[in-house]
Amino acid sequence: MTGKPYLEAVRQQYEALPYPPRDPADETRRLVLATSGNLLVINHHCFGGRRDFRRGFRCLVAGGGTGDTTIFLAEQLRHSDAEVVYLDLSTASRAVAEARARVRGLGNITWITASILDLPQLGLGRFDYIECCGVLHHLESTEAGLAALNTALADDGAIFLMLYGRYGRRAVYDMQQLLRELLPPGLPIPEKIRLTRQLLATLPATNGFARDYEQWRSEIEAGGLGDAGLYDLLLHSQDRCFDVPQLYQLAAGAGLQLLSFAHRADAYDPRNHIGDAELSSLIAGRDLASRQALAEQLVGNLRKHEFFLARQAGRGATLADAGLALRSFGTLYDNASRLAADMQPGRVLRYTDPEHSLPIRCTPITQQIYAHMDGGTSIGRLREQVLAAVPGTSTEQFRQELQQVYDQLHPRGYLYLIEARRYGTTVPDYSRLR
Ligand SMILES: C[S@@+](CC[C@H](N)C(=O)[O-])C[C@H]1O[C@@H](n2cnc3c(N)ncnc32)[C@H](O)[C@@H]1O
Repeated sequence: MTGKPYLEAVRQQYEALPYPPRDPADETRRLVLATSGNLLVINHHCFGGRRDFRRGFRCLVAGGGTGDTTIFLAEQLRHSDAEVVYLDLSTASRAVAEARARVRGLGNITWITASILDLPQLGLGRFDYIECCGVLHHLESTEAGLAALNTALADDGAIFLMLYGRYGRRAVYDMQQLLRELLPPGLPIPEKIRLTRQLLATLPATNGFARDYEQWRSEIEAGGLGDAGLYDLLLHSQDRCFDVPQLYQLAAGAGLQLLSFAHRADAYDPRNHIGDAELSSLIAGRDLASRQALAEQLVGNLRKHEFFLARQAGRGATLADAGLALRSFGTLYDNASRLAADMQPGRVLRYTDPEHSLPIRCTPITQQIYAHMDGGTSIGRLREQVLAAVPGTSTEQFRQELQQVYDQLHPRGYLYLIEARRYGTTVPDYSRLR
């Protein structure tokens, strides 16, 4: 390894507490899904919905931890010639990830123990997709980490990053500061954890972290991520957060474009937080980045930013590509055609799942649109069908209603675009992969 490729305290943490904690035996009963490893999502955001991942696809999971995204990608790419490369500086984390791959019989992963900062010297070649989730904010220089990833990116490739959000983690940073001031320096890791748990048990109810406790419970309690989660959240020696303007600055500094947000994309639109027309008009004329920056402050609870980067903008799938088809996803996957069957024009249906409650305005056109969210009918063909089935419909009317459906569903992760009747139109059957 070269120079000082990582912070020793960071390496020691992940050797002692691989993150997230995983039991390889669980691979026989479930598959952990990650947005950043979902080929449908990646295809939409980074490859215009038209990439066939079965041939010549190379992906790198940088700071792969105990293997969640590596395993998910390798499962989806099992019957292809794709290469999945896992890289992490923690040997303990790699051991867990490798054991998980063995349980699943996955032979399509290359395992590397090294720092991201070593990438320019590792000779691994260029990658079409680089996933780096929750890692670069733990480097001494996030900028240097992104620059190193960029050296390994193919010209038309894309990077996924997850970085901590500034406003959504305010109480966490106050708690980190308190612990730095309270705990004697140089304590061993188990002692720090013991004293932190003791403190949490006695926190006054007025403390900001105590007030927010419910949203962090699963990260730190034994039934969730336990000690590894607690240390990662409150005791990490290197932890930096970003607001939206800083994300754009980071991307620009590396010569990259921010393509789109992958997690809670609806939260980055101020129109979803301000109903008042006068206030909305104050925002309307601003550019996309400043609208997103305001939205982040308005919503206030974005704990993390998940987003895609590439050298060129305009890499995502769009409704203007008539060869693409609609593909419902998430809880809507099986439900779109059922909703279509329930639609009575003029009514407003409500679609509710644990994440959202959406009003769906029923018209003869939206009914047709919901009935064709299976990746099989191209947008061009759907338009022809709608014009034939709903007398008096204009092309412009179809375009507007399709746009409305897309704007409501896509930012919430319910709808993606994919080349019609080609590779990837059927989302992998995750129950079969489990
Ligand atoms: C919070 S964990 C995230 C693991 C995984 N990406 C996930 O989301 O499940 C951070 C991981 O980054 C690794 N890491 C930290 N700094 C690194 C560096 N400079 N090079 C490679 N890996 C690093 C750690 O060892 C750890 O496994």
